[in-house]
Amino acid sequence: MMRATIAVVDIDRLRANFRLVRRHAEPAEVLAVVKAEAYGHGLVECAEIFRQEGAAMLGVAYVQEGIQLRQAGNPLPIVVLTPPQPDEAHLYARFQLQPLACSLPVMETIAWEARRHGVRLEVHVAVDTGMRREGIEPAFALEFLQRLSELEGLQIVGLCTHFATADEPDPSFFWEQWRRFRETVQQVETAGYRIPYVHAANSAAMMRFFEARWTMVRPGIALYGYQPWDGGPRLPVQPVLQLKSRIVDIRYVRPGEGVGYHRLYRAQQETTIVTVPIGYGDGYRYSLTGRAECLIRGRRFPVVGSVCMDEIMVDVGHEPVELGEEVVLLGEQGGEAIWADEIACWLRTIPYEVLAGLSSRIPRLYVYGQDADVRHQLQGSLTGI
Ligand SMILES: Cc1ncc(COP(=O)(O)O)c(C=O)c1O
Repeated sequence: MMRATIAVVDIDRLRANFRLVRRHAEPAEVLAVVKAEAYGHGLVECAEIFRQEGAAMLGVAYVQEGIQLRQAGNPLPIVVLTPPQPDEAHLYARFQLQPLACSLPVMETIAWEARRHGVRLEVHVAVDTGMRREGIEPAFALEFLQRLSELEGLQIVGLCTHFATADEPDPSFFWEQWRRFRETVQQVETAGYRIPYVHAANSAAMMRFFEARWTMVRPGIALYGYQPWDGGPRLPVQPVLQLKSRIVDIRYVRPGEGVGYHRLYRAQQETTIVTVPIGYGDGYRYSLTGRAECLIRGRRFPVVGSVCMDEIMVDVGHEPVELGEEVVLLGEQGGEAIWADEIACWLRTIPYEVLAGLSSRIPRLYVYGQDADVRHQLQGSLTGI
């Protein structure tokens, strides 16, 4: 299913980013975070690339995402990174998904389902060191782990936590969490448990703090090419996804004429308005109204009037553009670029939301490096634009 607006996902860059991350994290293993459609890049496709590149595990947010990966044939260990629910217990067992152990009663139900399915389910004990989102308090972690280890049908393979502030300039709370987690790991080891996967670091923690790596890291945003924080050190990862469209209509407006709903934009002088088929129904948010720019012929032009559900209008001034010309909403063209962190600034949000918010209505086109432009032209001709 194709349309004039597509998200072009550069597989070469995705691979290159993964390799940079893996080399940086060595000897720790990499759990590639692919939740939320791999931050908008395509769950199944990105997971397959990470498998080929040697990811030890995949991280999803919900059981449904894990099942999607299993149905696509991905055999990697898959960790579901939110607390499991009792009514999903049979799905963990049936699809061999690894839960975060956060509550004993729920884990008893999961263990029961594992026995019923005749499997031994690998699980990760989540410790809440300060994120206050999920997991066991450090003071009870050892006792919890002991009782969990007595449940037949389960095998504890992971001990993990999540940092709340690894991307903040002030690292003091990060170190607080780090110390709590290190103490828990030491207690567990002193009690004689050998847990193969001890993991805590998201992209920011992995890049900044050698000490946060333990035996596995859990990067997300860095794999997709964005810096997780403003300071150094940095890895030279590159953005993977570009959002491209085409001019599908052109009109000339007179000074004082209004454009779009409520005629929000008023032309100051004679100008050219072009229509581009993308809107808030695609995740190109309504709040971009009055704030966004896009690239045409390698130059920036303002998106004007309100963002509609399926279309936006762009004021290209006196540029003699033609129907079918490429418009880049996110990505590079000529020497110019607009990336998700800039769009996030316009929206006063974070690049994660910009990327993860791109809806499934936008077809994803997977290309290899320099192919990106060629394929988009080809697709333009296929759609008859
Ligand atoms: C539990 C967990 N681990 C790792 C990550 C990856 O974080 P990042 O994308 O900042 O690397 C996330 C993302 O939100 C997460 O929730």
